[in-house]
Amino acid sequence: MPDDPYRDADLVELYDLDNPGGEDHAYYRALADEIGARSIIDLGCGTGLLTRTLAGPGRTVTGVDPSRTMLDYARRRPGSESVTWIDGDASALAPNAAADLAICTGNAIMHVGPEDLPATLASLARALRSGGTLSFETRNPACRAWEGWTREATYGERMTPAGYLREWLEVTDVSGGRVVFDAHNVFPNGADRVYTSVLFFRAAAEFRRELDRAGFTGITCAGDWHGTPADGGSRFFVFRALRA
Ligand SMILES: C[S@@+](CC[C@H](N)C(=O)[O-])C[C@H]1O[C@@H](n2cnc3c(N)ncnc32)[C@H](O)[C@@H]1O
Repeated sequence: MPDDPYRDADLVELYDLDNPGGEDHAYYRALADEIGARSIIDLGCGTGLLTRTLAGPGRTVTGVDPSRTMLDYARRRPGSESVTWIDGDASALAPNAAADLAICTGNAIMHVGPEDLPATLASLARALRSGGTLSFETRNPACRAWEGWTREATYGERMTPAGYLREWLEVTDVSGGRVVFDAHNVFPNGADRVYTSVLFFRAAAEFRRELDRAGFTGITCAGDWHGTPADGGSRFFVFRALRA
């Protein structure tokens, strides 16, 4: 795994501020209510901002993430004791066919490379009961979001608990749907903490194929958080599928 920003405690402190959740979180919470989910898995749960709000009476919620730093932050969150936190990726999920709902939010699925995607979806399938729901979002490669990840377009400055921060993104490689970019973070001591991330952009048809192979059925792909069917211009896809 590249040296990603989710391992830097100073940057993880800023994550919720930069990603406060809005329509996306409302969608996942409504989905959990709609299907009456009593057991929920949040894969790539990060700081647990959404995960924590899914918990409630009569529900078990499990947050899974391979970043110890993100999980440590999640564990310090008020109410975190109502969630079971697991340090790992999808391979850490119990294959017990017990979950009613599995989600993967904040485009976390885009961190999973082609060599790991089939096993990741298969692990999610094994963790869900028959008829259980998987939902996640992913960016549409046709919109080429990475073209906006330039120093000029992303440069910013702000005060943070770790001091004044200058930050920007820079794409270093694009091949097929694989996009590599550096996040630069310059704190007052002048050192530039550079974190490299790799994201995998996939067409809707590719996800449909992979979901089908992993044992999912009833696959739908929306282009917004309200169920509007996706089209070529959708910025992102919201997938929903049922464990066969
Ligand atoms: C953009 S954050 C999303 C966090 C959270 N789900 C949200 O909605 O804000 C992506 C998360 O995916 C996690 N991640 C990276 N690779 C992963 C993998 N192979 N399996 C599961 N999670 C992964 C990262 O550690 C990070 O916490």
